[in-house]
Amino acid sequence: MAQHLFHALTPMPDDPIMGINQMFQTDPREGKVNLSIGVFLNEAGKIPLLEVVEEAEKRLAERRLAHGYLPIEGLAVYRDLVQGLVFGESSPARLDGRITTVQTLGGTGALRIAARFAHDFLGFKRAVVPDPTWGNHIAILKAAGFEVSAYPYYDRAAGDAAPEALVASLEALEEPTLILMHACAHNPTGCDLTCEVWERVGDILEGKGHLALLDMAYQGFARGIDEDAEAIRMLAARGLNFLASSSSSKNFGLYGERVGALHAVCASKQEAETVLTILKSIVRCEYSCPAEHGARIVAEVLGDPELSQQWRQAVDKMRRRVEAMRAELSAALKREGAEIPALDRQKGMFSFTGLTADEMKTLREEFAVYGVSNGRICIAGLNLRNVGPAAHAIAEVLKRRG
Ligand code: LMR
Repeated sequence: MAQHLFHALTPMPDDPIMGINQMFQTDPREGKVNLSIGVFLNEAGKIPLLEVVEEAEKRLAERRLAHGYLPIEGLAVYRDLVQGLVFGESSPARLDGRITTVQTLGGTGALRIAARFAHDFLGFKRAVVPDPTWGNHIAILKAAGFEVSAYPYYDRAAGDAAPEALVASLEALEEPTLILMHACAHNPTGCDLTCEVWERVGDILEGKGHLALLDMAYQGFARGIDEDAEAIRMLAARGLNFLASSSSSKNFGLYGERVGALHAVCASKQEAETVLTILKSIVRCEYSCPAEHGARIVAEVLGDPELSQQWRQAVDKMRRRVEAMRAELSAALKREGAEIPALDRQKGMFSFTGLTADEMKTLREEFAVYGVSNGRICIAGLNLRNVGPAAHAIAEVLKRRG
């Protein structure tokens, strides 16, 4: 007799970001504009293959490496170089050996390992995330067993971060909580916290036994490679114990290679060694060991002073292109008689437009301009050809508000 073990299942909704991106791919309309997923596109509307990545791949191909397993914790040279990139070469915590870094399957993989570590091994049961945040943060934390709630991050009327409400909300947390924060280029709002606010967050973390998890998916896209790591470096300099996730997806253009890292800043070298054994045990269960190719590319680039310098220039160039497109969109909107007031202030790949889900749907269905239904658009998807039509579409939708 045939079995029907799955008959009671109902389909899950599409992912709010990946699903829209897929919808874009199958849209047959000419002139469609993809501002949905957080991917850097060049002026030609393509994901660029960075020259340094091409050079690294050439060198790797010449070495004709076999495809063995990496250690559970990842490629040693990648872990070391990326730790230096995130914390700074002269970070005292790094020099003391107090930071454990494991290579992960992208930034998402790092968050998953971090969530399991905090929940299963440190006993944290409650987590808070900014309102708004990247939707997958909530899903990952819930999947690890956390009870998740939000702290205020954004003042919609002012179109800016809401530091006073944020600090008050974190101060009011009673039991030790996992506090997820965006290290830079906040996704989706594009509004970051000042150093002064980060110091106040540091005071809260110090006093109440909370554990911070700083997610840094966009290092280099807000203000600069070192500037974007300031919050992480500041918490480390204060001697706090915390977690940070980093990703090489965006700043190396290695999206599909799934290369990222989880860093745990500990109180001592011995503690860091213990944490490493635990993180390894989690990774082994989840996916055994990370993938190799992307990590080798990043290590080849960062390990070569000349390539590393060229890479820094390439990241600066990507950031400047996004800034130029932001200015271009702002100017084009004004020409259309419209405005997104916070646009010029926002940093990183995104603009949080303030458009409603219905307005985003109209943009998509009527004008073939694809953004995320929370009102986020990816500025890095704009170019000199599509910025005019995109601005026209946004302006039309805004004018309908009456
Ligand atoms: C995004 O926010 O669009 C990116 O981080 C891609 C993703 O995985 O959602």
